[in-house]
Amino acid sequence: METFQIIQDGDDYLLPVYNRQKIVIMRGEGTHVYDSERMVYLDFFSGIAVNGLGQAHPKVVEAIIDEVQKLGHVSNYYYNEPNVKLAKLLCDVSFAKKVFFCNSGTEAVEAAIKLARKCFRRQGQDKYEIVSFHNSFHGRTFGSLSATGQVKYQEGLDPLLPGIKFATFNNIDSVKKQITDKTAAILIEPIQCESGIRPADPAFMTELKALTQEKGIFLILDEVQTGMARTGKMWAYQYYGIEPDMMTSAKALGGGLPMGALLVTNQAAQGFKPGDHASTFGGNPIVSAASIATIETILVKDLAAHAAKEGEYLKLALMDIQKENQKLFTEVRGKGLLLGMEMTRKAASLVSHCAQQGLLVGSANENVLRFSPPLIITQSDIDQALGKLRKAIAEELKTA
Ligand SMILES: Cc1ncc(COP(=O)(O)O)c(C=O)c1O
Repeated sequence: METFQIIQDGDDYLLPVYNRQKIVIMRGEGTHVYDSERMVYLDFFSGIAVNGLGQAHPKVVEAIIDEVQKLGHVSNYYYNEPNVKLAKLLCDVSFAKKVFFCNSGTEAVEAAIKLARKCFRRQGQDKYEIVSFHNSFHGRTFGSLSATGQVKYQEGLDPLLPGIKFATFNNIDSVKKQITDKTAAILIEPIQCESGIRPADPAFMTELKALTQEKGIFLILDEVQTGMARTGKMWAYQYYGIEPDMMTSAKALGGGLPMGALLVTNQAAQGFKPGDHASTFGGNPIVSAASIATIETILVKDLAAHAAKEGEYLKLALMDIQKENQKLFTEVRGKGLLLGMEMTRKAASLVSHCAQQGLLVGSANENVLRFSPPLIITQSDIDQALGKLRKAIAEELKTA
């Protein structure tokens, strides 16, 4: 099909919930993707921090082909080997002792909210409130949406799930004010991603952990975007010297295929009994095989350390660019390969200029330019991307 026809049919037949770039991506290899007009792009977006190993990584491709030839889908009424192996592997590389599999980040958050409530109800305690944070993002299904601290995602959709309260990020006093005898859990992103790449302060996370222990409530970390080595450690909580009671994962977890997971301690796991929660596709053997290949590659190649090193290189270079262009940029934030540049204007136009230069980047909270390249990125890729970014900035500066 011609490019214009694909775009026109897309606009005719897809619900218009996205502002898409007029680009049709046809294939990808490693850190690069290719469009229908044979233009090549360096991918510093990774499909919203999903493609940790880049496109078509041989280990992931091999795992998927191997598994799809053996077993497609069986449901959770039976065991399947890749899924069990993956659950064990995730527990080996985290604090967790048990895992629930689903298909997306929002479902992982739903599972966490349900498990927190169910745990207390099972003990005969009427605790159901979840304390979340202003400017957070936890997903689009009703539970996660209700726990998302940004009104723009909720407008016109009420009534939302009752029992969700909001505190100010990095402010422990504000959290304490929201805690009542009904509180079941605190839900937080270690780095608020969609609202502009804002990391939690180490002291705040320590206080939060202490508070949840003191009150006997759950600390739920939403690591949907920050997990899987993206920030330079396997999970962002490992920066803070604390462990959560529950943690959500998704995005990069499935090696490019849809997968979400809720990882929990033995104590939290007590809340769910057979029939309490479920997902038809959760833990599907093909996705599980892709996920195992992804995690094993991260471990074997120590891609967490690589992300930390290359992330620092990219961050320092972005800080130089920020200083040179103070008319456009005010701050560079983030950890590892999850970085944001706060802009003095909306980021959409610069995102388009970057694409025209052959660089895919994203935006967050409208005015933050967002970088989440694959973990396998090289310094040469970064240097090329910076060259493209500088050219895009020059174009952007020509506009008012
Ligand atoms: C921290 C966080 N939680 C949850 C979600 C929702 O994930 P999904 O889009 O897979 O439902 C996202 C998506 O951006 C996220 O960044």
